[in-house]
Amino acid sequence: MANSSEPSSSLPIGVFDSGMGGLTVLSSLCELLPGEDYLYLGDTARLPYGTKSAATVIRYALRAGGYLVERGVKALVVACNTASAVALPAMQQAWPHIPVFGVVEPGAQAAASAAAQSHSAGVLVLATGSTVSGGAYQRALLQQHHGLQVYARSCPLWVTLAETGPQSELLVETVLANDLRGFSDSARISTLLLGCTHFPVFKARLGQLCEGATIVDSAQTTAQVVLAQLQAHKLTNDATGGGCQMMATDDAKRFARVGAYFLAPSMGDRLAGALANVEVVDLG
Ligand code: DGL
Repeated sequence: MANSSEPSSSLPIGVFDSGMGGLTVLSSLCELLPGEDYLYLGDTARLPYGTKSAATVIRYALRAGGYLVERGVKALVVACNTASAVALPAMQQAWPHIPVFGVVEPGAQAAASAAAQSHSAGVLVLATGSTVSGGAYQRALLQQHHGLQVYARSCPLWVTLAETGPQSELLVETVLANDLRGFSDSARISTLLLGCTHFPVFKARLGQLCEGATIVDSAQTTAQVVLAQLQAHKLTNDATGGGCQMMATDDAKRFARVGAYFLAPSMGDRLAGALANVEVVDLG
């Protein structure tokens, strides 16, 4: 970033997801960068992105990200794994004056280092169909560690299950166990990489189904990358921030109700007010 075009540190950080799952990433950002203001946009009218073609995901992501950039942000976090996997280069190219962060590289870093500590067993990437078929996580993991054994599985029903809010235990367990067949109790994997914003809500259940595996998501590592980059560019805002405006492209009431499910428990109080005031925006 050239100094002359650097945005003001007092601007908010934009966070974009296809829906509410990105609130898991927002929670980690708020924990690590509590002084910042945030603008969160969930493109709930177009969710799911994970079943769409790459061309459509890129179009949607540029539209939604562009809306946040127009509102004024000093950085953009693409919390959506599908958009990060498919549309990040296009988004970085579209707004060269601000840092645009994806979640794939940070997630792959976290998973590769967890796998390294377990002496060689593989990593299983769990993600949407578009993310798995694009291969971005598989490439990023192998870049981190050439010899890593990488497996990937698309989990088409998990986003719907998560977005429906707390579900019947039996239903969740049946779907998760079915999608993990061949891997639970398997010595082939030491690490599960949750390559979708929505999957952290199933962490406890996944821990029971894949006992002994380390479960990694991108949220914390992404927040660490954002902090380091903002510090490097003298863009942190420690003085006055702390606000959050949430926006969705459909049904504010549903966003508020189901969104609470995705917030880290420690963030419930801080973000409850923002959830109660979701602004509905029309991206055309
Ligand atoms: N946000 C998406 C992701 O992280 C999941 C939901 C969707 O399919 O749009 O991949």
